[in-house]
Amino acid sequence: MIVTTSSKDERLIEKALRFSEEYGMPYRVRGEKSLAYLYETEDPQVFVVNHSRGLSYYEEGKSEAFFHPNMAFHRLKNLRQGGTDMLAAVCGLEPGMTFLDGTLGLASDALTASCVVGEGGRVIGVEKSLPLYILVREGLKFYAEREPELRGVTARMELHHADNLDFLRTAEDGCCDVLYFDFMFQRPVSASFGIEVIRNYAAYDGITEDHIREAVRAAKQRVVVKTDREGHRTLAELGFDCLKETPHGDFCYMGYIK
Ligand SMILES: C[S@@+](CC[C@H](N)C(=O)[O-])C[C@H]1O[C@@H](n2cnc3c(N)ncnc32)[C@H](O)[C@@H]1O
Repeated sequence: MIVTTSSKDERLIEKALRFSEEYGMPYRVRGEKSLAYLYETEDPQVFVVNHSRGLSYYEEGKSEAFFHPNMAFHRLKNLRQGGTDMLAAVCGLEPGMTFLDGTLGLASDALTASCVVGEGGRVIGVEKSLPLYILVREGLKFYAEREPELRGVTARMELHHADNLDFLRTAEDGCCDVLYFDFMFQRPVSASFGIEVIRNYAAYDGITEDHIREAVRAAKQRVVVKTDREGHRTLAELGFDCLKETPHGDFCYMGYIK
């Protein structure tokens, strides 16, 4: 992986150099070079620091990936206006809780949870895909600078680049109140439009009994899994109950309440 800029702008170059140092990733001067040229001569995985999104990620033959908090913004606004959120309800989230998101993705759920647990709470996010982890980590900083209301919400989020099972195996018993998994579905469902942008870059692991065992050990109150019909059956056999199903039955939240 390398990092470059979208133009010769000094501020972008400065940011790319900081980024290069932080992630131990070589910086390459963009000059007049096209992405195709960089893929061919430098590296097939390229981060580009730019003004519009802060940071974009490219791989040859795939579409641009970037962090876009739009869906989370909508949910945060709704919560601030006194509305309810399905994830917060199925997780039984309350102020002061610690929420561990084992499948961070674009952090829409983690941001929502952070808003609900509030100042005294904590959100831990784990993401296996390195490009997505970096995009979200940098994206949260980029948008928090622009949206003052987001600062507190992102400040209590602690992100980790790791495989969630490895992470959980080293986690202490009862390290969180609620542990949440939302693995990629093998078959895309209509409701997952927001995730389309990361589809090419996500890890496609499935949930296993080891995940459940470690999650039940790590969570003080409940483990919640967002799943499709197939996952529903397996989790029901492992003692999970359906907490909420979408009207079209595309997916449901299965919960193990301790
Ligand atoms: C459906 S997305 C999660 C979306 C997320 N709930 C949100 O609000 O944006 C699933 C994410 O889990 C990640 N993932 C898959 N397997 C993982 C693993 N073993 N450990 C950590 N993350 C994993 C994928 O890379 C992907 O980003």
